[in-house]
Formats: sequence, C-alpha cells, structure tokens
Amino acid sequence: MPIPKKSQLVGLDIGSHTIKLAEIDDNKRGLFLKNFGVIRLPQDAIVEGSIKEMEIVSTAIKNLFRNLKIKNRNVTTSISGYSVIVKKISIGKREESELETTIQDEAEQYIPFDINDVNLDYEILTDLGGAVSDKEEGEEESKGLMDVMLVAAKKDIVEDYVSLLHLTGLTPAVLDVDAFALQNSFEISAEDISGCFAIVNVGAEELGINAIKDGVSIFTRDSSYGGYQINEAIMSKFEVSYEDAEKIKLGGTKIDKGKEDLEEIFTSVVSGWVNEIKRALDFLATTYPDETIEKIFVSGGSCRIPGFLKLLELETDSQVEELNPFANLQINEKIFDPRYLSYMAPQACVAVGLALRSIGDK
Ligand SMILES: Nc1ncnc2c1ncn2[C@@H]1O[C@H](COP(=O)(O)OP(=O)(O)OP(=O)(O)O)[C@@H](O)[C@H]1O
Ligand SMILES: [Mg+2]
Repeated sequence: MPIPKKSQLVGLDIGSHTIKLAEIDDNKRGLFLKNFGVIRLPQDAIVEGSIKEMEIVSTAIKNLFRNLKIKNRNVTTSISGYSVIVKKISIGKREESELETTIQDEAEQYIPFDINDVNLDYEILTDLGGAVSDKEEGEEESKGLMDVMLVAAKKDIVEDYVSLLHLTGLTPAVLDVDAFALQNSFEISAEDISGCFAIVNVGAEELGINAIKDGVSIFTRDSSYGGYQINEAIMSKFEVSYEDAEKIKLGGTKIDKGKEDLEEIFTSVVSGWVNEIKRALDFLATTYPDETIEKIFVSGGSCRIPGFLKLLELETDSQVEELNPFANLQINEKIFDPRYLSYMAPQACVAVGLALRSIGDK
C-alpha cells in the first residue's frame, strides 16, 4: 500500500561519523528516491551513541535540510548499540491485556540496565512453532509459548535524540532501531527474503549484526568495533591527526613508505570484525541448529575496507554481498549521480530503511 504523502517521513540516520538523510516518495508507481544527502560530523560530537555536542549536531542537520531543500519536518530517526537492547524472548502464551505487566516483570532479567531507566516496547512475533503468527495481536492463542521481540531503549538517550530534533525544529514521528531500519532496506532490495540471512553493519564506532528468518529478526548484537579502530591505529603508526588518518585510510593521501604497515592495520582490524561476526553466527548455529544462513549482507561505510568482504566470505563459508538500498528504488539520473549513489550505498542503508517508515508506525 503506498504511503499517503502527508504520512511520509524524512529518514535521518544520525551516525557518529556522518548524518545521512533519505526521503522516499511511495506512490502507486513504486518507490521513488526523492532526496539523499550526507553531512560529516566533527570527531567526538557523538560518542558511543550519545550526543555530546547538541548545537553542532543540530546545526549539521539544519544545514543538511537547507542544502537539500527539504520541506517535510516530520522525521524518523534511530538509536542503536549502547542505548538499546533488542531481544527475542519466549513467554507463556497469554492475552494482550496481561502482556504489558508480564513483559515489565520478565524484561528485568534480560536487560542489563535498571528497568526504571528504559522505555520498553514489544512486538508479538510468533507462536510456538517459530513461524510467524497470522493472528492479530490480542487474539487468544492456544497453550504454549509465544515469542515476543523486546525493545528496551535507555530513556536518557531517547530524550537526547528527541531534544536534538526539537532544537532543530523537527518533529520526531517515529523512533526506530538501526537493526530494524536495515531490515527494511534489505526487504526492499533482496530478491527473496524467505530463509535465514544476516545483515552486518560496520560503521565508524559500531558493528551491528541482525539475523533474520523469514522476515523476522531472531537475533541482534552490537559491539564497539568500527572504522575508528583503523584511524586510531594509523594515528599511532604514522603519527598523524584523526583527520589525516581518515584521508590515509580512504586512499586520498598517498603514502610511499609504510604501505605494508597500512595493509597490516587493515588486516588486523578486519580480522577482529570477522571474528566477532563468526562468534555471533556460531551462537546462532547452536540456538537454531536447523537453520543455515543463506547470505550475509554487509552495510555501513567500513564494509568497504579492503579485504573485509573476502575474509568474511572465507571464514564464514557464506556468500557475502553488499546491501544496496537503492537497488529497487526508482531513481531519476538527472537528479542523482548513479556513481555517487553506488559509492554511498552501504552507508545509506539505515537512512533509506528509516525513510520507508510512515506516521503511525511504532
Ligand atoms: N570507502 C570507504 N572505505 C573504507 N571506509 C570507509 C569508506 N567510506 C567511509 N568509510 C568509513 O566508514 C565509517 C562511516 O560509516 P557510517 O556512515 O556507516 O558510520 P556512522 O553511521 O556515521 O557511524 P556509527 O553508526 O558507527 O555511529 C567511517 O569510519 C569512515 O571512515
Ligand atoms: Mg551508523
């Protein structure tokens, strides 16, 4: 169903390295890319998901809206990593009316934060068999267990993001989670979503893993790996600033001496990422012995570090592919340079996934 124009939202991915914005026009003729843009943040404006420099981040978002001439003020943004726990839990089947209190009680054991410090949300996923339930929420189920996706977001972080958007003159219509936004992008881009897939997002300060079975997330994990590790290694090896390290990393500054050192840095950091992903997949294999991951989709700016995809493929024995959120969007090439979009594709996955949300979504 196309999203009515007035319900369409601007997707805003507020990352620690860059802010990404996407706008999608969802109409009868398909999904049209309406806007896409990126703006860099200074280092340390956002650290470990928390906004340290409100004014700086707010100004960056305002500039992005101005540069792209965006009129819509209703946005959807997301949090991840340190500030949110996404967990699938199984509880005894019960009616919707009882669910709220049960979830509150049950949640305490799964959440490493004080329960009073989080906003809790949940979604009923499945019945006992693990297949997606076709019953509406609240319909009485037979005896047994039911799967519920628990989402616990730290209140202070949520409040920070809401304040940031208000300060910027925007209305936060939906607050999402990176993992779910990525899943949206995957769903519009992949040819067939039946089966088991993993989506890996390697950003600047976070590495997120989301495993999906038949369109339902069954496992998520975030760890504090990312592109910053390479910058830090370059900084100490070559005695340069963070910004110079960034240029060396992306190949903009050529280094004559030390090429091997750089390759060594790439290899060692990338191995750490691959091991982390392998650990998650091994855990998944013990929890779901009957499932095999059909393919790993990678996203996030740091998935382009030389050698990462190859090593991941080799070590996991899985097919690995970059997630391209633009693949099935209608794109006017007079407005958007296809080479730019294809360069930005992995970084755009969260923003595009967010832009697919509409007012009224949870
Ligand atoms: N072509 C590239 N090759 C390697 N690394 C890249 C490339 N382009 C961007 N990066 C790196 O990717 C990271 C930015 O990716 P991304 O935009 O996904 O992160 P973010 O969303 O801002 O951060 P996070 O989600 O971790 O808070 C930076 O570390 C940047 O140096
Ligand atoms: Mg990110």
